[in-house]
Amino acid sequence: MASSKKRLLTGLQPSGQLHIGNYFGALKPFIDSYEEYESFLMVVDYHALTTLRKPEEMRENIISAVKSYLAAGVDPSKAVIFQQSQVQEHTELAWIFECLVTVPFLELSHAYKDKLAKGHEANAGLFNYPMLMAADILLYDTDIVPVGEDQRQHVEYAREAAAKFNNAFGEVFKEPKEMINKAVAIVPGIDGKKMSKSYKNTIPLFGSKDDITKAVMAIVTDSSGERPENVYAIHAKFKDAVSLDALYEEKKGKYKDLKEALIEDVERLVAPMREKYNSLTEDDVKRVLNEGSDRAREIAQAKMKVVREKVGVSL
Ligand code: TYM
Repeated sequence: MASSKKRLLTGLQPSGQLHIGNYFGALKPFIDSYEEYESFLMVVDYHALTTLRKPEEMRENIISAVKSYLAAGVDPSKAVIFQQSQVQEHTELAWIFECLVTVPFLELSHAYKDKLAKGHEANAGLFNYPMLMAADILLYDTDIVPVGEDQRQHVEYAREAAAKFNNAFGEVFKEPKEMINKAVAIVPGIDGKKMSKSYKNTIPLFGSKDDITKAVMAIVTDSSGERPENVYAIHAKFKDAVSLDALYEEKKGKYKDLKEALIEDVERLVAPMREKYNSLTEDDVKRVLNEGSDRAREIAQAKMKVVREKVGVSL
């Protein structure tokens, strides 16, 4: 029986060990809302291929991404967890969208320009990235796409792709909406800039207590103000404002004590998740991904049957 719930779908690239920015920016918002919807969570390995050319790393990252979501509390019986490359309809539909949009339209992508500015090669996959993402979203008649602010334009591209197809061939695709949680939109790193693996300023989500201690002790502090702002900004993700302000008042000027308090708060959140993460095996991950990908493929194949008829390639 079809579910009456709205559909929610999101994706993440298997691009390395997750950090607490990913946790507050993507995992937690997903975990807090996914049960209200019919939810899909996808590891977008073919997107990662635009920048990653180390097969062993790709494999490890796919496994680690799924373990992270399971350890953080996603129940695979309540969400479809799947691997993009296992559902070939994604790349097929992306091609069709690529035939409908122009080069100047794709050149407007902020993410593409940012990647080039960071020194990435301008490969055609990176350029066409938004059309693969549009396919990811539109194949499933997705209503809502929870993402961070940096992905807003990509969801707009998906709406445009839907409109262009519907105009050319008749109504097939639903236009999705992004869901962006402003309160957690940016998690700062240990240098005060946005926490990001490429800036090497992260606190690892599944690191040991030693890894967490090292990262927190390395937070850049500035002694000119009343309190160490970089420590406070990260700490604010872990404690409510009233108890946090009381703590920073009591320990005024004692930066080491404040960092130790932050380590304890990070550890309290992370320790049970780390234990779960370490208890999961590769076989657990494969089972979840295979089952999820079978379910996703059923939906994607039904949609592509309609798409092929509409564009005139089914004889
Ligand atoms: P990706 O893999 O870069 O990031 C996954 C999600 O994490 C969010 N995010 C953050 N949020 C807050 N603070 C941070 N420091 C931070 N770092 C990352 C991102 O906004 C994202 O929501 N193109 C997408 C993947 C994708 C996708 C999709 C998403 C492919 N197909 C379909 C949704 C639907 C990306 O590269 O995310």
